[in-house]
Amino acid sequence: MDASNATLFGTITSNGLEAQCVYKPVRGERPLWDFPDGTLAGREVATYLVSEAAGLHVVPATVLRDGPFGPGMVQIWVDTDEERELVDVCAPKDVPPGWLGVLRARGDRGEPAVLVHADTPELQAMAAFDVVTNNADRKGGHVLAGVDGNVYGVDHGLCLHTEEKLRTVLWGWVGRPLPEHVTDAMSRLRSELDDGLCDTLGEHITRREMRTLSARVDAMLADPCYPEPSGFGPAIPWPAF
Ligand SMILES: Nc1ncnc2c1ncn2[C@@H]1O[C@H](COP(=O)(O)OP(=O)(O)O)[C@@H](O)[C@H]1O
Ligand SMILES: [Mg+2]
Repeated sequence: MDASNATLFGTITSNGLEAQCVYKPVRGERPLWDFPDGTLAGREVATYLVSEAAGLHVVPATVLRDGPFGPGMVQIWVDTDEERELVDVCAPKDVPPGWLGVLRARGDRGEPAVLVHADTPELQAMAAFDVVTNNADRKGGHVLAGVDGNVYGVDHGLCLHTEEKLRTVLWGWVGRPLPEHVTDAMSRLRSELDDGLCDTLGEHITRREMRTLSARVDAMLADPCYPEPSGFGPAIPWPAF
């Protein structure tokens, strides 16, 4: 598939149950200048644990385990509803009603285009989740509408860095107050961090990374609004999809 790291599609079985999955062996991780080598699979698992602790369930179940190409992250495959779009690049006249604009641009022939996303509680939660996990890669293609009706985020290898790296297409609520379901989730995450979540996260990320995660949650609770781009580095991943 179209992926920059070794991203494989597979099947897992247990006690007669079978499921489809994504498998990213650590060995297949492309070295990056800003993330330590061999840590992306662990970041994916840690991000899943944060999502569960917050009660957001925005990341498909993800574990670290052995596979045909060695240890790696294994994540449940989400069957997607191709009809249900949540993020799009389209002509200004084609923006669905109620959607939020992020960026105005021009296409190859100079035609106007906009980057837009839906305004739903699930995406509001994902946008805030990306702030606290410091997601450097929330592309449109990393937002999946599941056939089960839920919304899932995938590809969280570039999360939980200590330096500010938020890059996302979900900027539609900048400056607006966090909805109550989001602040509730952040409070839950805050108490889980005090309550042993750090021990589990410690298997996947460093102590400094955990401290900065806690600090981002505290900052969000102290000023419960969607932040603006920091101004350091690009605010939108490229390509945006
Ligand atoms: N758990 C999943 N369920 C369904 N589709 C997925 C899942 N994980 C990834 N994908 C699809 O595969 C594509 C590539 O996977 P991704 O995790 O983005 O790999 P990479 O890290 O190499 O960019 C994603 O953009 C998405 O379309
Ligand atoms: Mg990707």
